[in-house]
Amino acid sequence: MDAIRIYGGNCLEGQTTVQGSKNASLPILAATLLINGVCEIENCPDISDVYHMQRLLTSLGCRVERKGTCVCVNTCCLSMCDMPADSVCVMRSSIMLLGALLARTGRVCMEYPGGCVIGARPIDLHLKSLRKMGVVIEEKETEFCAETSRLKGAAIKLPFVSVGVTENLILAAVLAEGVTVIEPAAREPEIQALCGFLQEAGAQIEGSGTGRLVIHGVKALKPVKYRVPADRIVAGTYLCACMCAGGRIFLKDAPVCHMESILSHAVRMGAAVTCEPDGILVDGRDHESTCNRLTTGCYPMFPTDMQSPAMAVMAASGRKGCIEETVFENRFRIVGELNKMGANIMVRGNTAYVNGSGRLCGAIVQAQELRGGAALVIAALSAEGTSIVTNRHYIDRGYEDIVLNLRRLGADVELA
Ligand code: UD1
Repeated sequence: MDAIRIYGGNCLEGQTTVQGSKNASLPILAATLLINGVCEIENCPDISDVYHMQRLLTSLGCRVERKGTCVCVNTCCLSMCDMPADSVCVMRSSIMLLGALLARTGRVCMEYPGGCVIGARPIDLHLKSLRKMGVVIEEKETEFCAETSRLKGAAIKLPFVSVGVTENLILAAVLAEGVTVIEPAAREPEIQALCGFLQEAGAQIEGSGTGRLVIHGVKALKPVKYRVPADRIVAGTYLCACMCAGGRIFLKDAPVCHMESILSHAVRMGAAVTCEPDGILVDGRDHESTCNRLTTGCYPMFPTDMQSPAMAVMAASGRKGCIEETVFENRFRIVGELNKMGANIMVRGNTAYVNGSGRLCGAIVQAQELRGGAALVIAALSAEGTSIVTNRHYIDRGYEDIVLNLRRLGADVELA
């Protein structure tokens, strides 16, 4: 029961509501540790990564309760417990807890975090930057211990933009002594959401959404209620599903203002999109494609998390295309699987060349990471015959009820 069976060929029709953002909920849940009291985080997606974050918070002594889409975190009883290794290892975002816990308790020991296998994904920059803020870190073979008597603000120059490092430093800086400057800071909408949450709680952060963040440490933060924005990557994935399968769908609550690059590429690749106040109308039927090339990059460029779904669209279209990946060095893991479905994709260095092929055909393929797994499912929607995508648990890390949602849109898919 860890697979999805897809009978290809159905067009998509109807409406789906876009879930809350995974990459915004995770650091916001970690940020609740900075606040003594009860925070209510609304629109938290019911996905396994959020479940693991809830478990980690519980293991630290927090009382965590989900009521519908709202996750309430009561941090009053926070104690310095060990975190369950399985949750730390399964999810890279467990590293977020480092900055927040150091701010709250001054000492953390944890295993090295895991997550999707999409490149080396080291944590060297996290550790180096925190050392600049007065943290002493001892690195052992499978775990590390970090300790500080008081976090101190610092001017931190990063060698390149990192989403996770920016988030960790924000979490460490909001209660630190003095001023922290982070440059270049990541500008992703999820960082803006984290800053929004912390600002409502009383944090002093300037420059949210820009490449330079200035954070003035404050003495304490107050409990707040905050709504997580909709997930631009999930919205983009359903958009790509409609481009693969054909049809017309409405992506209710899709965060239009944060999807400019995704939408402009979709239009160039042959979709028609209409932005409305409450979402996006997608017509995935064959329109003329003017450009089948894309390069991933930091926000506001085309997101690396959308690279695999976009590759599925290129492969399903039968046209030639080309994708340059500049963020993660090992993010072409679906190429072999798409080729099993009849695609003709070749990788040279950090570029994948999608050579035109006929219609994709059903096959048994293996999800090897979150976004790649979802991309295989949507590619299979366009294929002739039946496909099975194994390792569904990777997809469950980030997509709420993907099978149910696709079924409601008219796809012939089921759990297998
Ligand atoms: C986050 C997102 C992920 C997205 C990625 C890039 C979450 C939970 N995950 O991941 O979905 O694909 O941003 O938008 O929000 N690096 C180092 N050393 C470090 C840290 C990072 O070399 O200490 C490298 C990474 O290997 C990678 C690059 O920096 O090549 C960018 O990674 P980063 O932006 O940190 O990604 P994540 O925060 O892991």
